[in-house]
Amino acid sequence: MYSITLFSPAKINLFLKVIDKRIDGFHNLASLFQTISLGDFLHFSRNDQEDRDFLTCTNSSIPIDQSNLILKAANLFRKKTGIKLYIKVHLEKHIPNEAGLGGGSSNAATTLWALNLLSNSTISQDLLAIWSAEIGSDIPFFFSLGTAFVTGRGEFFQNLPSLDLKSFSVIKPKFGLSTSAVFKNLKLDCLNNTDANFEQLAVEIAKGYYKFFNDLEISAFELKPELKKIKENLQNLGFNNVTMSGSGTSFFCFGDPTIHISDDYFRVEVSTKRRTSTSEWYK
Ligand code: C5P
Repeated sequence: MYSITLFSPAKINLFLKVIDKRIDGFHNLASLFQTISLGDFLHFSRNDQEDRDFLTCTNSSIPIDQSNLILKAANLFRKKTGIKLYIKVHLEKHIPNEAGLGGGSSNAATTLWALNLLSNSTISQDLLAIWSAEIGSDIPFFFSLGTAFVTGRGEFFQNLPSLDLKSFSVIKPKFGLSTSAVFKNLKLDCLNNTDANFEQLAVEIAKGYYKFFNDLEISAFELKPELKKIKENLQNLGFNNVTMSGSGTSFFCFGDPTIHISDDYFRVEVSTKRRTSTSEWYK
């Protein structure tokens, strides 16, 4: 197989609890992650002519140098396997940047899956997931089936039964937030101290008990006070369960898709998305 096109889904965090800060500077989390129908398309082919990868993107604001997680994933695959396979990738970008939607992480997981195929390797997904944590905390989740309880700094996941949310909105203002800035600004003593069983909560939500929250909202709202106003505006317009995803700045919310909001926002109607088995990628 010499060329391949793959879907690379975004994720939302149906809940995100920050447990504590670790000595390595990262935070332990308990979160319910869910892949959604918003996603990028990645077109891969082998670059047999040169000893380098080649990345192009439909969106000129996305860096296409070695800082892009797609190229980091290709380097990681070669380092771990010793296989000298270089690739050409065209990234058709739909997932907004600095949105808390895991776009870059999803692209990295998709690249590892593609390299496994293009090199005719049979590296297990469990191993790809473990490797991927070296380049980003959110990447291993994308090797789940799409609905998963996530712990550690984000690298451990446990598959849960499919969560079927048919239609909801993802809304994001033009400005974004960097993940490290949001975690850095977080004041742990301001968070709800609770000994709740989050694994149980994840299971209950997967069964239809919708209790969504995100501990990173307070920090994000401090950094960007407009973001708090946007949440309030969306609630006033009639959306419910308005919740920030990841480190922001996107929100997911439920309500009538015809509710008018300002054209200044990125807005898309989505549903939950899932892989049917570990032998297939997201479609
Ligand atoms: O792993 P990733 O590159 O996505 O993390 C970006 C930054 O976000 C980290 O450098 C760290 O500052 C912060 N972070 C954290 N706790 C996590 C995940 C990320 O503090 N669980």
